[in-house]
Amino acid sequence: MSQPKLPPAALHPDLAEVLLTEGQIRERIKTLAREIKAAYGDGEFTIISLINGAVMFTADLMREIDNPVRLDCIRVSSYGAKTKSIGTPQVIYSLTLDIKARDVLVIDDILDTGKTLKLVKELVQELKPASCRTCVLLDKKARREVALEADFVGFEIPDKFVVGYGLDFAERYRNLPGIGVLKPEKQTTTPWASG
Ligand code: IMP
Ligand code: MG
Repeated sequence: MSQPKLPPAALHPDLAEVLLTEGQIRERIKTLAREIKAAYGDGEFTIISLINGAVMFTADLMREIDNPVRLDCIRVSSYGAKTKSIGTPQVIYSLTLDIKARDVLVIDDILDTGKTLKLVKELVQELKPASCRTCVLLDKKARREVALEADFVGFEIPDKFVVGYGLDFAERYRNLPGIGVLKPEKQTTTPWASG
């Protein structure tokens, strides 16, 4: 017997509210893919996905785009078990594909202070691509610390710590299908937090 579909508020008991449902994300990704397609035409481009956060978004977005694409991943140091960015992000795992003279699209889950995307953009520019555009699912404009805007934005969201659909707190909650605000009492280091 099939399970009844849970209402959005029941996405996870650790959430104070649901910000975006699975369906809302799916619909927006379809239109976002059309915006991206309009910018690149039928040409090939290389996607650089910021793991781990952008894993789900990248996988879903790629499947809505019928251009020939290449995929590479980059890993930049994350918050660990914190909800605010600390210091300067560091590249932990870098690119393997040659992107010289290629059209590049950098994909991240969320644009917050902007430090992460700025770092990755600079790294990409040094490799002399033909072009470098950026795409984020979420944009927390209120928290920007560096002058940087993404070329493609899924949703603008308020200054709240969110999890789900790839976004984590201490590596947890990435597998929630939608995106919600984590309850303040859950935004603390717990015995299972990996640090
Ligand atoms: P930025 O360097 O401050 O722009 O931070 C970007 C990175 O911080 C993202 O790639 C996320 O991994 C993480 N981040 C920022 N805000 C949130 C949030 O609300 N939930 C989960 N991760 C976040
Ligand atoms: Mg991230």
